[in-house]
Amino acid sequence: MKAVLFDLDGVLVDTAKYHYQAWKTIAAALDFELTSEQNEHLKGVSRVDSLHKIVRWAGKDIDPQQFEQFLHEKNENYLELIEEVRPKDALPGVLSFLEALQKNQIPIGLGSASKNARPILDRLGITSFFDAIIDGNDVTNSKPNPEVFLKGAKALSVEPTNCLVFEDSQAGIDAARAANMAAIAVGSSEVLKGAIHYISDFNRHPYKELAAFIE
Ligand code: BG6
Ligand code: MG
Repeated sequence: MKAVLFDLDGVLVDTAKYHYQAWKTIAAALDFELTSEQNEHLKGVSRVDSLHKIVRWAGKDIDPQQFEQFLHEKNENYLELIEEVRPKDALPGVLSFLEALQKNQIPIGLGSASKNARPILDRLGITSFFDAIIDGNDVTNSKPNPEVFLKGAKALSVEPTNCLVFEDSQAGIDAARAANMAAIAVGSSEVLKGAIHYISDFNRHPYKELAAFIE
């Protein structure tokens, strides 16, 4: 392996809980209670595709104007929630893992579905670690489509097969595999399928252990 591509939400920072919270409010407006099992299917999925799923689960039919309004409300709510994000909110071990990658001259990329990725990296104070940032503003196809990771590999000038992806969502692991990349899951093998290795966080699995998959 010669490069690492990180997903953002749920891998570098626990913003997955804020997406869930914001979607729950929209679901409630559709008289629908969004469960954590259903939320698993929203992880890694773009804002638009997530709302399509929620509307379908709610069994509702809404007009395009209402759809746009819900997208806007969800994002406003989410932006309020992420105002609180600070460097201390990087998930355990993330900072030292990034430092170790940099020290070992491993190219680092971001492959996120989120259109809010850059401000979140800035709030965490880790933007400068990234040699390439591909986010929801750069792609037309949502994970599990491989576009975001293929663009990441290209931006890092690395072959897809030489990239290792860190992901917390099934859509993201499927996207990595579709891009011919190996994925390490941040989460459990009971929920996430198809990764080559599973970690709970970067603290419990220090660079030395993960280096075997990278160098
Ligand atoms: C992904 C999240 O990283 O980004 C999804 O896992 C989210 O839950 C998607 O829907 C899009 O995010 P945003 O910030 O553009 O609404
Ligand atoms: Mg994620």
